[in-house]
Amino acid sequence: MAHSFLLQATDIRKSYGAVEALRGVNFHISRGETVALIGDNGAGKSTLVKILSGATRPTSGAIAFEGRNIALDNTDIARDLGIETVYQDLGLCSNLTVAENIFLGREMIRRLGPLRMLAKREMHRRAAHALKDLSINVPRTTASVAGLSGGQRQAVALARARLWERAMILLDEPTAALGVQETRRAMDSMRQIRNEGTAVVLITHSMPMVMEMSDRVVVMRRGEKVGDVSTSKLESADALVSLITGATERWIEEPAPFAARMAEGAAT
Ligand SMILES: Nc1ncnc2c1ncn2[C@@H]1O[C@H](COP(=O)(O)OP(=O)(O)OP(=O)(O)O)[C@@H](O)[C@H]1O
Ligand SMILES: [Mg+2]
Repeated sequence: MAHSFLLQATDIRKSYGAVEALRGVNFHISRGETVALIGDNGAGKSTLVKILSGATRPTSGAIAFEGRNIALDNTDIARDLGIETVYQDLGLCSNLTVAENIFLGREMIRRLGPLRMLAKREMHRRAAHALKDLSINVPRTTASVAGLSGGQRQAVALARARLWERAMILLDEPTAALGVQETRRAMDSMRQIRNEGTAVVLITHSMPMVMEMSDRVVVMRRGEKVGDVSTSKLESADALVSLITGATERWIEEPAPFAARMAEGAAT
């Protein structure tokens, strides 16, 4: 069925001059599914995520969202479709406050007679609520992001993605800079986001996180997809490490919607 997947990317290629960052990658994700995207440095993970977020245009390939072919020419188009991204560098504006970052591009307006003004108090109230919901401590929504720790920045980025009930969220190494406790909290936030039915693409180098968080794992090696496996089929992360290094050539399951695979898993 054409409408089975929330997003389906077919034969995606991306060249940077002589460098082939992606060499014909197929990728799909269903609503409510968490897909871990793994692979060595330079394998093409961030490039794929940037293409799915509209930040980078592929050299060739097709992308369908809810069964319809789309051109993700910029991040606004992706955002309008409900695709939110937390980039490797977090993509926050250091000179803005926590609340301003969360509402960037979607500022709330208050009408006062003929005047239109920013509804600052309401934005701070809603930003504080979203952060509290994620059970992460950020001192004040009026604080500048420049003064926050890595974990607090992470919380802001996740809150921003979550406040808008996204269809899909792309997370590029969201916990790379975090301590143990901050990582725990960020993982709790991701679980909350997933439980709300949002599709999650999670890039990480942490195998325990892959095993704990994902429904399916996609493995990239040198610009190609060499693994696409339901996490429930994995006894340990060893098989993934073999796919990453090339000790195992390929392990690609037939694409099937998340719900169908869940039902199959429950039956066996
Ligand atoms: N803007 C760019 N210009 C030129 N080459 C690029 C650019 N972005 C990525 N590349 C190249 O494309 C390849 C894939 O890079 P990418 O950032 O997607 O890897 P990655 O899997 O995210 O790695 P990491 O785990 O280190 O973040 C690399 O060889 C990289 O050097
Ligand atoms: Mg990367």
